Order: sequence, then structure tokens, then C-alpha cells
Amino acid sequence: MKLVEKNKGTEVSHSAANSSPQDENNGGKTRPELIKKASTRANLENYEEAYAGFSWQDARKEISYFADGKVNAAHNAVDRHLNNGRRNKVALYAVGSDNKLEKLTFQEISEQSNRIGNALKSLGIKKGDRVFVFLPRVCELYTSTIAIAKIGAVAGPLFSAFGPDALRDRLRDSGAKVIITNAALKDKLDSIRGQLPELEYVIVTDVEQNKLGHQELGFKELVAKQSDKLNCEQMDPDDPLYLLYTSGTTGKPKGIVHVHGDIIGHHMTTKWVLDLRDDDVYWCTADPGWVTGTVYGIFGPWSNGVSCVSYEGRFDADSWYKLIDKLKITVWYTAPTALRMLMKAGDDAVYRHSLESVRHICSVGEPLNPEVVRWGMKVYGLPIHDNWWQTETGMQLICNIPCLPVKPGSMGKPLPGVYAAIVDDEGNELEAGKLGKLVVKPTFPNILRQVWRNQEKYNEYFKIPGWYFSGDNAWKDEDGYFWFVGRADDVINTAGHRVGPFEVESALVEHPSVAEAGVIGKPDHERGEIIKAFIVLSNGVEASDKLIEEIKDYTKKQLAAHAYPREIEIKDSLPKTRSGKIMRRLLKAWELGLPTGDISSLEDD
Ligand code: PRX
Repeated sequence: MKLVEKNKGTEVSHSAANSSPQDENNGGKTRPELIKKASTRANLENYEEAYAGFSWQDARKEISYFADGKVNAAHNAVDRHLNNGRRNKVALYAVGSDNKLEKLTFQEISEQSNRIGNALKSLGIKKGDRVFVFLPRVCELYTSTIAIAKIGAVAGPLFSAFGPDALRDRLRDSGAKVIITNAALKDKLDSIRGQLPELEYVIVTDVEQNKLGHQELGFKELVAKQSDKLNCEQMDPDDPLYLLYTSGTTGKPKGIVHVHGDIIGHHMTTKWVLDLRDDDVYWCTADPGWVTGTVYGIFGPWSNGVSCVSYEGRFDADSWYKLIDKLKITVWYTAPTALRMLMKAGDDAVYRHSLESVRHICSVGEPLNPEVVRWGMKVYGLPIHDNWWQTETGMQLICNIPCLPVKPGSMGKPLPGVYAAIVDDEGNELEAGKLGKLVVKPTFPNILRQVWRNQEKYNEYFKIPGWYFSGDNAWKDEDGYFWFVGRADDVINTAGHRVGPFEVESALVEHPSVAEAGVIGKPDHERGEIIKAFIVLSNGVEASDKLIEEIKDYTKKQLAAHAYPREIEIKDSLPKTRSGKIMRRLLKAWELGLPTGDISSLEDD
């Protein structure tokens, strides 16, 4: 095995065909068959050559365009496969929470999405209208998203764990006209319906029409009567495709708008980074309520004509490994928290299963610890390929790609077609080894096109001409590998979920016992960070453990299961600036025992 001590980590070669994992002192339990698989040729074979010679214009040949440069991402993801030999290929292996397996071919996805698209049109939905999907990972989630894109409406994926507050903020801000949901999730919607004047219809997948109320429609009846023929809307590459809300430091989540032309970046990155090929069975564990699940759980892999797996069930090491063996999953895209939880479940949990089919593993969303990469090498016989990107960038940008050695702890190198750099506050590029702001040139097709109804926020990303500011701090080593250091702002990353402190603080102060709240991310071994809240109780309210549990529960229900504070500390007052803003930086410094820095703006007692 190629082991080179370099920078922070150990370099691990992907093409480790001649090596033996015995070197790693793994107790004699080896996976040589997997090591051999890892040596198959990658889609992108020579990074330097590809980087030097790449142009996005040339990459257009991979995408199917209509006349006059018009395009539709859903046509590329689904309909084009009806005429290229993949018509009867399984596009989706959908595994329910009861482990029931449903298979849909590209033709079935195409016809089903045509019916849904026609149904939406019959309701008056047209190009540019926002249609949200609030479903667990079931077939209708995938077919509906494709249908929305086919008719040129803007798809709004919503994570099924969202509570009423999170739903209301997104649906109201976007002016959504239709939401597709199911009976179990509809309750959360019913409580906020009165606050959504622009919402015209609620379509419910699993309730019959005669049991539904005003402006509610039964999915099955509505869709069954539609034609399965539909011509995809021919879109300008800059026309919106999907709208995903994401958190920043201030205010409520912002709607990041991506466009149909993004399909080119979805396609190329899926091919290079996930290394997908026609015979792969690919599983992206992310929910389409997050950008990874939309881009790499739907559009990217399907544009490449690859069979995808969706799994409705919750995380559990044994169930995950069983799923891999049952469907013979070959490529697996997951997140550091899941990998840390798998590591905690132990080596024996791995060895109880074969996992022989797996040939490539990728990870995204939060820092991937070097020890997890080394553990992966030991138990799966494969390096885990970390990669970095954001909701705003709409595609992977800095990646460990299969043809390059993995440096455990590093996010990898910028992809061909992407220029990334580390700069100071003025936008001057810093030399290797220097910590600074991670920026990219906004010259790749998938960079965000708008922040929904918020030009000011959009401009903030581009405050220094020529650069897109990611909000992350990082450094680059002499070989051009990038290393993540942390967020430059207060945004919390808990188990790969990006959570804005303001959103949590708002939910907390809605509780009658809470007068004020300040929220920070606190380092956590398993989840990267957990949410910690400091609260001031309302006048006359007595502190108790029961009350703290009640407040946690309230936030979980109102906002989302992943966004509630796992720790709450009661304070007499919170540190504020003279203008009344809570100083989260100070709360964090106190919590972590760090120097408090400049506190000259702290309000006087
Ligand atoms: O802070 C970085 C972290 O997640 C942020 C983006 O979050 P989101 O828009 O939800 O997209 C997540 C999935 C694309 C980044 O600003 N992040 C993402 N990938 C990594 C990461 N931090 C460290 N290492 C990564 N590989």
C-alpha cells in the first residue's frame, strides 16, 4: 500500500492493486477482493491533462439540447434514455421503510412523470411556478420532481423532518402554488395553511379524494386520468430548475435558485467524482430535501443513465450493510456523520456482511476525519473520497477523484473547469500553506443564479469582483490539495445539515417560557457539531429539567428533528452588542474556553 506521510495525513492510493491491506494491521480481516476492484480504470484518468484541456463548451456534447440551445434537465435525466437503449433499464430501486422493494425503469419514470406533469398543468401550473415536494424517500418524490422540471415549473424539495415553522418560512417566501405530500406529513402543513395565501393546492399521495378537503387533491385519482404523453418544456439554460433553502448567519433560510443549464455540471461531476458507469448500482444516502440528494440522488446519476437506490428507512449499520448486499450496490455516496456512526458500530458489523459489490465510496457535507478514511481503508478495502461543495455551487467543486491519491483529511483538488483559491479579505490569493477564505471563480455553469427575492443577499456572495465567497476558511498545500478549517461565520454544521442559528433562536423564543435565545455550534465527536442554546427565561418562569426537555421537544416539532438544541443552558442575560445583536462569538468562546477577542462592541451592563 502506498503510505506517504505528507502534510496532515497519509496518502492513500486508489489504485492499490498490488498492495495488501494486511499492512494496515487490521487483525487479519482483509478485503483483498475489494482492493482489486478499486484498481479498475476511472472515468477521469489523467487529472492534469483534463484540467489543462477542459472547456465547459466542449462538455456540452454530453448533454442533449433542443433547437436554439434550449434544454431541459429532466429530459436529460429521463426521457433521453428512452432512445439510447436504456428504456427498460431500472432507473430506481426504491426500498421502503418496511424493506419492500419497488423497481421503476426509465420508461416507467418517464410515463409516470408525464402523468404528474399533465396533472399539474391541468391545475394551471405553468413555467416558473413553484411546486414543492414534501415526501419521504418514496417513488412519488422522484417522479414528481422530474415532472415539475419537465413542465418548466420550479421544484422545491422539502426534507420530510421539517416542522411547521420550517415549512411556513419556505413555502411563504417562495410563493409556492402547489405542494405534493402524504397523509402523515400533511398535519404539519394543516396548522400553517392559513399563513400561505399563495398556496392553491395540496396534493396528497395516499388519501382518496372523497376524504380530502377544500383545494386538496388525491394524487392517485388526479394522476390516473392524465395522458402519459408529454413534451418536456424547452427551457433557456438560465431558467430555474429547483429552489433549495439554505442557512446563513442572519435571518431565515434563503432560497437558492438553480437552473436547467446546471445539468451539464451534474452530468460531468457525477461521471468524474462518483465515477459512475452504465453497470453501476448507485446509492446516495442523502435526502433530496438537501442539495446532495437532489443533484446526486436524481439529476446527476440519471443523466448518466445509472440505476439509483433510494432507501426510506432510518440509519442503522446492519440495515445499511444489508441493503448494499441485497442490491449489490457498487458506488456509495454518504456523509461523515454516517461513516462515524458506522465506525462506532464496529468492524464486526462490517464483517458480518459481504459488501463485495462496493467499488467506490464518496463523502460530503462536513469535514471527514482522517481516521475515518483510514478505518474505511481497513474495513471496506477502499479509500473514502471526500469532496467539497455547497447548495450555492450546485455541483461538486473540490474533490478527491479516483485517479488521484487520497490525502486523508483533505477535500481534494478543484475539478477541471473549476478555479478555486485561498484569499485574504481583499481577495488577494494567498500562497500554499496560508489560512484564508475559500473562494472560487464563478465561471462554472452551476453557480447559483439568484437568491429568491433577495438581490442583496445574492450580491454578498460576490462582494469582491471575480470571486464567489464560500464562507468557509481553508488552506491549500503545495500539491494543490485543499484542507477545510471551519466556517467563517456562525453557520452550524450538525451531522452534515447546515443550520442557521437565527432559525433556531426564532423557534426557541416562540416558546412562551423563553425570553431570549442565542445559539452556537458545539464540537461533537460524532455529529461534527451539535446545537447548543443559551436561553433567558421569561419573567417568573422557574428553571427545571422538565422545562428544558419541553423546550427541546417544542423546537424539534416546530423546526425539524435535526435542528433542535441538544444542549440548553439557562442564563440570566445574554451578551449583546450595543445595537442589541446577540454575540454568538462570545457565547462560543465562553463555551469552549477560548479567548474572547475584541469585545469593545459589547453592551454595557
Ligand atoms: O462548511 C462547508 C460544509 O458544508 C457547507 C455547505 O453546506 P450545504 O450547502 O448544506 O451543502 C452540503 C453538501 C454539498 C460548506 O460551506 N462542507 C461541505 N462539504 C464539506 C464541508 N466541510 C468540510 N469538508 C467537506 N467535504
